[in-house]
Parts: sequence; structure tokens; C-alpha cells
Amino acid sequence: MKRKFLITGDGSITIHLPEWNEQYHSKHGALAEARHVFISSGLHFLRNNNVDAPVRILEIGFGTGLNAFLTLLDSQLQGYEVEYTGVEAYPVSEEEIEKLNYAELASGSQDVFKRMHELPWEIPAELLPGFQLLKQKKFFSEINNTDTYHLVYFDAFGPRVQPELWTEEIFGKMFRAMKEGGVLVTYSAKGSVRRAMQAVGFEVERLPGPPGKREMLRAVKPS
Ligand SMILES: C[S@@+](CC[C@H](N)C(=O)[O-])C[C@H]1O[C@@H](n2cnc3c(N)ncnc32)[C@H](O)[C@@H]1O
Repeated sequence: MKRKFLITGDGSITIHLPEWNEQYHSKHGALAEARHVFISSGLHFLRNNNVDAPVRILEIGFGTGLNAFLTLLDSQLQGYEVEYTGVEAYPVSEEEIEKLNYAELASGSQDVFKRMHELPWEIPAELLPGFQLLKQKKFFSEINNTDTYHLVYFDAFGPRVQPELWTEEIFGKMFRAMKEGGVLVTYSAKGSVRRAMQAVGFEVERLPGPPGKREMLRAVKPS
């Protein structure tokens, strides 16, 4: 599928898919969305609730690696350990990675961002001390872990273009893959998404969304 680049509202770049009229991130700000939905409403919320170390995170849609990179920066700054698994069926190319300006805008190292993408797939590696990354090249439907993750960043393309990823079947997989008390966050606030999450056992709340979006969802696996 053809991919183009787009400068979003906060100056950060995202990938645009013209055939689907869909982006990897919000047009109103890729960096702002990632910080609000995944870091603040997910990672910081979880850490405020005394999670065990290392924090085990699953990302649904590793894509450009923006969420992984922001998580790495936060963990280095705050001094806690992370084991991060990013699942992705269609990795971005080296050429595409070079066009992304996240390291510069988030005051991180471009070398580390590049190294994150150069790490081999399927092998857990320590990107920086305390931050282990496992990139898995596979479909979300192939995720079969149980009782593994504290936090899920659910960052698939939207239900308008990939409705099959926002179903009870996929959220059931997430529920089983998570530990009790685990947290799942997503930018979508669609009623059918919320109901699919509730149907598999999550407790779901609507939260204020990132710039340009009224609401988002946070789901907790009850203890
Ligand atoms: C919204 S984008 C991810 C954005 C990413 N978190 C980032 O910060 O760049 C959704 C991602 O899911 C991937 N994807 C789409 N369908 C998939 C599937 N069925 N299984 C695995 N990956 C898929 C896409 O290639 C894309 O990278």
C-alpha cells in the first residue's frame, strides 16, 4: 500500500495511507497523541498504581516506534525497568525511519531511535540498560500469551478501516495476555469498541482525548 509523509499539528511527522485516508497517528499531533494516550493515561497511570518491576508492555502496532521510544525516554528519566514487546506485521522501511523527527522533538537520541529499528526481529535485546525490546513480526491474531503484560498500548489502525481488529476476539486475546490489574489504553472511544472490551471482562472508562479528539478509552483487567 502506498505511504506518504504528513506533518501533524505539533510539527511531528506521521505516515499517511492515501488509499485508506488513514494515518499512523493523529493529524492534530502525533507526538501529543502518543504522550497523552499511551504515556500519560497508560504508563503513568499504571506506575502510580505500584506495578512490579520490570514493567511489561505489549504494543499493538509497533509501526514507527514512537510509543516505544517515548517509553524508553520516560523509563531512563525516572529510572525503572521495562520489558517491551512490539508486534507488527508490516515493518516500516529504513528509508521511512530516517524521515521521522521524533528523537529531535522529544529531546532523545537519533542514534538510539535508529538502533531501535535496526535490532533484529524475534530476539529480545537490551536497547539501553534497563530497557529490553522484543520486536515480533506477526499478526495480532497470532498473539496467544497468558498473564504476561501489565500494560497494552492498543494502537491499531482505526475501526473504520480495520474493524476486524476491534472485536471481542482480539480484545479477548488482550485480556488473556494481561496480568490482573493490567491496563489497556487506546485512542478510540467508539461505543462498539467499548462494548467489545466490556464483553470480554474489562472495566472500561472514557477519558478526555488528545488534541482534536473528545475522548479515549482506558480498560482495566479486574483483580
Ligand atoms: C496506527 S499504526 C501504528 C502506530 C504505531 N504505534 C506508531 O507509533 O507508529 C497501526 C500499525 O499496525 C500494523 N498492522 C496493521 N494490521 C496488522 C495486523 N493484522 N497485525 C499486525 N500488525 C498490523 C500496521 O502496519 C501499522 O504499523
